Amino acid sequence: MIAARFTAPLLGICLMASSTFAADPAPEKDLHSFSNPEHLRVKSLFLQLDVNFETRVLTGDAMLTIERVSADKTQPLVLDTRGLKVLSVTEIAGDDSVDAKFVLGKVDPILGQSLTIPIRANTTMVIVNYKTSPNASALQWLSPAQTAGKKKPYLFTQSEAIDARSWVPCQDTPAVRFTYKAAVKTPPGLLAVMSAGNDPEQKRTGEYSFEMNQPIPSYLLALAVGDIAFRKVGPRTGVYAEPSVVDKAAREFSDLEAMVKACEKLYGPYQWGRYDVLVMPPSFPFGGMENPRLTFFSPTIIAGDKSLVSVAAHELAHSWSGNLVTNATWRDFWLNEGFTVYIERRIMEEVYGKARADEEAVLGKQTLVKELAELPKSDQILHIDLKGRSPDSGLSDVPYEKGALFLKHLEGVYGREAFDKFLKSYFAHFAFHSITTATFAKYLDENLLRQGDPTQRAKANVDEWLYQPGIPAGAPNPTAPTFAAIEAQARDFLAGKTEAANLPAKKWSTQEWLHFFDSVPAKIGTDRMKDLDAAFSLTTSGNSEVLFQWLLLAVKNDYAPAYPRLESFLTEQGRRKFLQPLYEELVKTGDGKARAVAIYKKARPTYHPSATLSIDAIVGGKEK
Ligand code: BES
Ligand code: ZN
Repeated sequence: MIAARFTAPLLGICLMASSTFAADPAPEKDLHSFSNPEHLRVKSLFLQLDVNFETRVLTGDAMLTIERVSADKTQPLVLDTRGLKVLSVTEIAGDDSVDAKFVLGKVDPILGQSLTIPIRANTTMVIVNYKTSPNASALQWLSPAQTAGKKKPYLFTQSEAIDARSWVPCQDTPAVRFTYKAAVKTPPGLLAVMSAGNDPEQKRTGEYSFEMNQPIPSYLLALAVGDIAFRKVGPRTGVYAEPSVVDKAAREFSDLEAMVKACEKLYGPYQWGRYDVLVMPPSFPFGGMENPRLTFFSPTIIAGDKSLVSVAAHELAHSWSGNLVTNATWRDFWLNEGFTVYIERRIMEEVYGKARADEEAVLGKQTLVKELAELPKSDQILHIDLKGRSPDSGLSDVPYEKGALFLKHLEGVYGREAFDKFLKSYFAHFAFHSITTATFAKYLDENLLRQGDPTQRAKANVDEWLYQPGIPAGAPNPTAPTFAAIEAQARDFLAGKTEAANLPAKKWSTQEWLHFFDSVPAKIGTDRMKDLDAAFSLTTSGNSEVLFQWLLLAVKNDYAPAYPRLESFLTEQGRRKFLQPLYEELVKTGDGKARAVAIYKKARPTYHPSATLSIDAIVGGKEK
């Protein structure tokens, strides 16, 4: 693939007017899509799907309303697909509907296959009749045994970053936004929900219709089907989950309304109507996914004490950063995630207080610093080069924590009041548009940097933050007063001055525990591991983040009593954030590798395709 910028052709002026945001100085080609939105744009989608749990196939039609946006009326429509079986394509112009020819391109291991449809100049709609593959990369089909209720099967999608194309033929680039409607047929007794309007009162008829009348990028297309119940949490918020999980989930997320209000106060109205969340079965590969109007959550964030609800603040924050103002290509991913982590902490501060937000900022910077030590320089850059690589390879703490740190830095230079005002105007200005890093930089320059004095502008140091590796000098250094005591206690424990049993850790919060783990070296020895475990039953911790850090330490220290729990943790949930580091740590030693292979053999069939893709690379190919 070649990183080709759109050098706007002579005729490109009118092209820009409707296809990209007018303020975008240099729209960049999305290297991760075959589509040609510079010529043709999908404006709306009507999706008709039959969900078949026996064959693990979705069958149906994608009706795409399209618009030509360039002077070249001979251009074919090019869509992205992966593993789709295209049965027929119809093109419609006015009353005239004809079979269209189509060509599926050769399979690219990262991008899938282009679907090229030569259409007439005046065609306004294309209907693709198709089937998904049983191993579609976005879809996970769960047997009843893999659900909480054990009685009914479950299906869910995960489209970000470039997997929408494995269940919907589309212009699978975040640069293109479209509205959608869907009609979904399921077996009786199951409920379907989507990233669209969902009616909390919906009866389980097996036939469901949805409407998303605000334009969204393809990676926000989402569907889940299963034995799903609903609980109201607030006037416009609610929780969907399997019946045995839904009450506990509703208690954990009882602050959703307060979070929405906090974010609205800072950055302007919540624009999407309802904000509901869906707690997924444990194999969900992420902590959360910001599907509009219906965030998907891993059940591992339900700790019982709201200690992990920052993930909820995070996914809610995406309703502004990401869903309203979207990264135009995956190299601008930090615009989605860096802004979101910054806003997540602002919400946490509003709802749970400054101490909690500060603690989380410290933990975030610590993970960033650790990760930077391992990453090649080129991957330490916010505006990352992904040429020839999957967007997945850009998934590190850099877009998240370095991105958030950059915004925190700007907040520091210009003061909170000015920066809040700037962000609010940014969301209003770019709402429902997809933008690049360059567009952001230009807007920042015009609306914040040039408003201040030149010393502030120099301090802001924007180019280094955006385009250079590492953490620039003068970066914020978050501190949390509560953590000093933890560091002292960790030191005394390591020096043998305090026994494990005498640590005041029964009173530690989740964040204090996490800081304790950050404050001890990789190798503390099995004796100390044993003492800690005896005093605080860490191996049986019900808090997924604490357990994850503990199990990582257990592998590093070859602490055998934790191995059965390690195995159950790796087989009972499928969050990539937990799986990847644990498998990576395991394969470092001969015994560990054997353990990893044995566990993975059992666990692999329970993971989502996006998780197996990354774990295959760690544990070494398919273990079937
Ligand atoms: N949008 C991401 C998840 C994602 C990113 C999926 C890239 C696929 C490709 C989501 O908002 C996210 O960041 N989730 C985090 C939680 C967060 C609190 C850092 C996760 O799952 O760990
Ligand atoms: Zn996110």
